[in-house]
Amino acid sequence: MASERILITGANGLLGQELVRQLVRRNTYEILATGRNSLSRPRGAFQRFYRPMNVCDYARVKEVLNDFSPEYVIHCAAMTGVDECENNRQTCWQVNGDAVENIAKLCHSRGAYLIHLSTDFIFDGTEGPYREQDRPKPLNFYGRCKLASENSVHILGGEKTAIVRTNVVYGRSQGRVQKDFVEWVICNLKNKCPIQVYTDQWRTPSYTYDLAMGILRLVHFRKSGVYNLSGREFLSMYEFARSIAKAFELDSTLITPIVQQDRPQAALRPERTGLVILKAETELDYRPLPLKEALAHLRLRSQTNAIGPLTEDAWC
Ligand SMILES: NC(=O)c1ccc[n+]([C@@H]2O[C@H](COP(=O)([O-])OP(=O)(O)OC[C@H]3O[C@@H](n4cnc5c(N)ncnc54)[C@H](OP(=O)(O)O)[C@@H]3O)[C@@H](O)[C@H]2O)c1
Repeated sequence: MASERILITGANGLLGQELVRQLVRRNTYEILATGRNSLSRPRGAFQRFYRPMNVCDYARVKEVLNDFSPEYVIHCAAMTGVDECENNRQTCWQVNGDAVENIAKLCHSRGAYLIHLSTDFIFDGTEGPYREQDRPKPLNFYGRCKLASENSVHILGGEKTAIVRTNVVYGRSQGRVQKDFVEWVICNLKNKCPIQVYTDQWRTPSYTYDLAMGILRLVHFRKSGVYNLSGREFLSMYEFARSIAKAFELDSTLITPIVQQDRPQAALRPERTGLVILKAETELDYRPLPLKEALAHLRLRSQTNAIGPLTEDAWC
């Protein structure tokens, strides 16, 4: 029997790479990994599954969907730099707003099941951690676009859609320029550079390994609606940085606690977000690794990477 087809947008990104990696390992679906660059960021075997597709190019998206005819689309492509979104609103709206609307319409017309990635930044951070049904109130432009995109998916995507909300995503990736928070902490501490981290930004950090697993469970059960997928621990970014230092045996005295008033960012950040994952635990049997284990797991994977240049086999 022919296997079902999954198309991933933003496959060069942090989450996209992990999804492709897990799907390749499972070997139960036919995969198409798409990204805006002509070549995939991870080289070697990844390239076999890869095709360029800028999600803002409507004609190209339509062509690729017609050609591959996926049963499932996992939409990871996004402009994710929150300050960049604040400063470059037009591009942010094109990628995080308009493109999602188009993809939702195209998936609906083709009968494809759409999973769209969203964020804790749709909330104002006064009452976190948040459940799926809590009332959104974004503080910055990124959050407003993401909330608008959730609405597009609800309205235009029909019943075969799911929204996955996540926050502070970290994991293993290759060839990316932008560092995730864990990479940023490790890189600075390894180089003996002092860092300042906020004590008044509370989150439930999400390991891509767990997040991808949760998303593939949604696909498997063909669930629709909103699902929070993140880690379980609710902690400040400062405490998170200290946990990273401990897990990677780095000098935590280089980390100084600050509050947002000490060093404001271009886009306002909510104080206490983070996500309650009870619905995913109950309905999907989603079991993210405890933070300590997740960081140990990541460290082990990074060490495997560090052994030498990646061969095609080593990529998975
Ligand atoms: N990272 C987080 O902490 C976080 C938190 C909450 C929610 N999310 C959501 O989770 C999803 C996945 O994020 P991520 O962590 O994997 O972020 P990421 O590493 O920044 O990945 C996003 C990917 O989208 C691609 N992209 C941007 N514009 C595009 C376009 N016009 N056409 C095609 N691809 C485009 C980027 O391409 P390049 O590789 O060329 O830059 C990148 O590979 C996003 O929807 C994000 O909003 C992330």
